[in-house]
Amino acid sequence: MSASSSLPKEQIEDIDYLDLDRIIEDEFNGDRENLIMILQAIQKRYNYLPRPALLYLAEKIGVPFSKIYGVCTFYSTFSLEPRGRNIISICLGTACHVRGGERVRERIQEILKIGDGQTTEDMRYTLESVRCIGCCSLGPVIKINEDMHGRITSDEVKNTLDQYE
Ligand code: FES
Repeated sequence: MSASSSLPKEQIEDIDYLDLDRIIEDEFNGDRENLIMILQAIQKRYNYLPRPALLYLAEKIGVPFSKIYGVCTFYSTFSLEPRGRNIISICLGTACHVRGGERVRERIQEILKIGDGQTTEDMRYTLESVRCIGCCSLGPVIKINEDMHGRITSDEVKNTLDQYE
């Protein structure tokens, strides 16, 4: 067994530090005032916030790691756990709920065999429930990455998910 095989996945994530420098310095001038936007950009790059990247960021902008960690846990949009290549947000707000959002969620869970907040073993999908994503008239709505799928029925879920590798 190699030394790294017992490390949690997040610690063996392949971090491209040159790419991190590009985000931190080139895009945001290494300015700690831009912390939230830097975190958003790192999360966009990795789909979550890898711990080694946060440690590097802390040193780079001179902000204690504990403070950065606190910001990451305060905002629900940030994830400290590895997430799948495709993020499925199922809306369970009132408008979507009354139009069958719960049945759509059950169908997604049945197909992917994961619960809310979980990721498939092949890292293809992560499922997250949200409360209103701002297009209630299209309910029930799911969002996959940046794509909205409105008025979706449970029968359409499988074909919709299959579009995302
Ligand atoms: S309640 Fe689902 S988009 Fe508003």
